[in-house]
Amino acid sequence: MSLAHRSDAVHVRAPGKINVYLGVGARHDDGYHALATVFQAVSLYEDVFAHPAADFSVSVSGAADPASVPTDERNLALRAARLLAEETGVSDGVALELRKGVPVAGGMGGGSADAAAALVACDALWGTDVGPARLHALASRLGADVPFALHGGTAVGTGRGDRLTPALARGRFDWVLVTSDQGLSTPQVYRRLDQLRESRGALADDPPLSLDVPVAVLQALRAGDAQALAPVMLNDLEAAAVAERPELDAVLADGVRAGALTGIVSGSGPTLAFLCAGPEAARAVQEELRATGREALHVHGPVAGARIIG
Ligand code: C5P
Repeated sequence: MSLAHRSDAVHVRAPGKINVYLGVGARHDDGYHALATVFQAVSLYEDVFAHPAADFSVSVSGAADPASVPTDERNLALRAARLLAEETGVSDGVALELRKGVPVAGGMGGGSADAAAALVACDALWGTDVGPARLHALASRLGADVPFALHGGTAVGTGRGDRLTPALARGRFDWVLVTSDQGLSTPQVYRRLDQLRESRGALADDPPLSLDVPVAVLQALRAGDAQALAPVMLNDLEAAAVAERPELDAVLADGVRAGALTGIVSGSGPTLAFLCAGPEAARAVQEELRATGREALHVHGPVAGARIIG
């Protein structure tokens, strides 16, 4: 089929995520750490448009600093499109257009959402129809968080975070996010965690090789009970993110003072996620944090994974 017969752009929307629980275990030889995590997809989105084209290219808008997103071969959405083309024998290209709503390098999986959206968009654009199992396998080759961005909802991730089991979550959870102008490098935060552990001596000698998500976390999600979830939330990367960005500590305290049930660093940070008792409580927390001059967003979860729009 010639390009002239192809449909117009395919639009796919994929969500950012919060790690409601993030247990980090031993570092394996491939550099990845064993994880036991619970992801929740939240209502902050990446919009990806796949336009028919002969070559591969990507453009970026919507980011506070668009120049911070690479548009060369490091771009994860571009790599996703190329991977799908290689695996399916497609010889056409694509012009990807990324409209970013998730903070760049913020610990919310924005780049992973771009990659998941690009896979779904190119699969539709090219008519390759690879199906969910193969999409998942391709996603996990692109990055540990990419399968979850395809999947959405609430899910337990093990292995590198890419082995997913859906988790039941009733109702909706209200979150206030405090974003930072400057992102954090995920590998750098994991390295910092290793250093902290080595200097403490304990986990470096005897790291947990397999981890579990506590039952209390899954029960609170299943019950839709934010009050029960708050005290059992945890992020093993938090100390490392705060070591990289000491000012985050004060913001965590401010959010709780403003009425949040609890606050954690989202993934590798520096975005902070404050769990609130409901929509009204979240609006009040958002207002109070904004009054202190911070960028605060009210979002909810769980929401769907990468989906074609229109
Ligand atoms: O898979 P992804 O490219 O998103 O991971 C980015 C980096 O985060 C990895 O290169 C690694 O340094 C770190 N990471 C890790 N263990 C994981 C996931 C990510 O150490 N389970």
